[in-house]
Amino acid sequence: MKEALEHLLAEAIASLQSQQQLPADLPVRIQLDRPRDKSHGDFATNLALLLAKPAGMNPRALAEAIIAAIPSNSLLAKTEVAGPGFINFTFSQQQLLDQLERAYSDDKLAVDVAASGKTIVIDYSSPNLAKEMHVGHLRSAIIGDAAARVQRFIGNTVIAQNHVGDWGTQFGMLLAHMEELEGDAMAMELSNLETFYKAAKKRFDDSESFAARARELVVALQSGDAKCRALWQQFIDVSLSHCQEVYDRLGVQLTRADVMAESAYNDDLAQVVADLQAQGLLVEDQGAQCVFLDEFRNKDGDALPVIVQKSGGGFLYATTDLAAIRYRQNQLHADHVMYFVDQRQGLHFQQIFTLARKAGFVREDVQLDHYGFGTVMGKDGRPYKSRDGGVTKLADLLDEAEKRALDLLQSKNSQLSASEQQHVAKVIGISSVKYADLSKNRTSDYIFDWDTMLSFEGNTAPYLLYAYTRVTSVFNKTDMDATAISAPFVLDDERELALANLLVRFNETVYSVADKAMPHFLCGYLFDLAGAFSTFYEACPILAEARDEVRLSRLKLAALTAKTLKTGLSLLGIDTLEKM
Ligand code: ARG
Repeated sequence: MKEALEHLLAEAIASLQSQQQLPADLPVRIQLDRPRDKSHGDFATNLALLLAKPAGMNPRALAEAIIAAIPSNSLLAKTEVAGPGFINFTFSQQQLLDQLERAYSDDKLAVDVAASGKTIVIDYSSPNLAKEMHVGHLRSAIIGDAAARVQRFIGNTVIAQNHVGDWGTQFGMLLAHMEELEGDAMAMELSNLETFYKAAKKRFDDSESFAARARELVVALQSGDAKCRALWQQFIDVSLSHCQEVYDRLGVQLTRADVMAESAYNDDLAQVVADLQAQGLLVEDQGAQCVFLDEFRNKDGDALPVIVQKSGGGFLYATTDLAAIRYRQNQLHADHVMYFVDQRQGLHFQQIFTLARKAGFVREDVQLDHYGFGTVMGKDGRPYKSRDGGVTKLADLLDEAEKRALDLLQSKNSQLSASEQQHVAKVIGISSVKYADLSKNRTSDYIFDWDTMLSFEGNTAPYLLYAYTRVTSVFNKTDMDATAISAPFVLDDERELALANLLVRFNETVYSVADKAMPHFLCGYLFDLAGAFSTFYEACPILAEARDEVRLSRLKLAALTAKTLKTGLSLLGIDTLEKM
């Protein structure tokens, strides 16, 4: 609908230009906004206001001229000039009915499949493997996963890349500790990576000889020593299987096949540095190989270095990212690379992207974007910590979520059997954690609060999951197949209309999430939709309605609402429940 309207406007402008009523070289950018108030139509544009000056016309007169030039069509019922020169559009009801019908009969709710069919590489989760995943790893995993689901849904090809950190100096310390332990003792310690890491760190800090051995082992590992490599692989396997458990519990669709670790680029790093050298970009600074980019300066105005090789010869995080960019373009054929990484790494990515372009590692037409996110905070306004003040393991956080959800269900005298309760508690617990995160603006910090995320009121997972069961309970009470009603939609009541108008916005909502990688747009939409359904449901009887065509239409509205909620939640990586 939006595209169709944009088309009509573009045609109107072109025809005014061909009649020389408008200059040919106008900077035309059509933007359509949803007016806050429905009485102002379905869409509005400030096009006439933007073009008035370059066209040398009065904005209202220009708006009138544009309206007059819009080709005749069946899309619009009304087009009006408003205020200083806005144009408001109201679609015909037939349009609305057609769209509802298309969404109702299509598995993908008639969401437009992206014509471009791009290959999008999404770098997400990407934890360091030295420790177990903790609360700081939540956001990248679930926001990246939602972005991946949305991109696939609109027809792009997604290649997930889990750029895990498996190659830093910490591994020397971990290997030294493994060496000291044997058999069962080692297996046992490895079952809790958090304590394993702490123990290794303590040995490293306390013992000079241990520290020396740790440093030796890093060198041995990086130079390909077979024994070292085997020990390291054992550690990595344990760590990755911890990650996989967390992904599976979270419903994050990453698998081992998506792991493309830092170490995988190892053999290419010397080449990256050599290529930078060949391009005359490298400068030696205190023994380290650096590139100074004029675009990034410190507060004294000096260009900041990107260090690509340390004085001892070691490579860095930045070197690996440069190698990864090349790989993603050349081997994975990415049109777009999306990075879901903590906002605090913003400068790193801006530098890497700029350098990769400068060095010709990546073509102009390959899009690179860092989608940063804020920090998960405790109620004290500091980064979230466990009760003992340590970092919270993600696995423990999810245990607590499920337990709290179960307590909640039991306190509500749930009618479900014990095993159903277990399942429902899992879904509520996990989805509450995810939804609380996804529903916040990605770039903001947010406060992690069990009580609000598990509440059945407000923009929360429990509210939406419950709303979904209410909708489906309508057609569970009939033996009709609510997904195969051939009677048409009829929209008379204003609440039916309000619901219908929201249902047809699913497409643009999905696209706005895809464009901006902002899952909270979808959360806000689903929350509004659930609200519109409940208003409709209270005012408009469905099964009790005597008029056949009205009853069937309402049942169809309910079915389409259920489908939209379910699909929308699934794009967020959230499962629905049939009862709760
Ligand atoms: N392992 C890094 C960290 O935990 C994140 C990696 C993000 N991806 C990347 N290509 N740099 O901070």
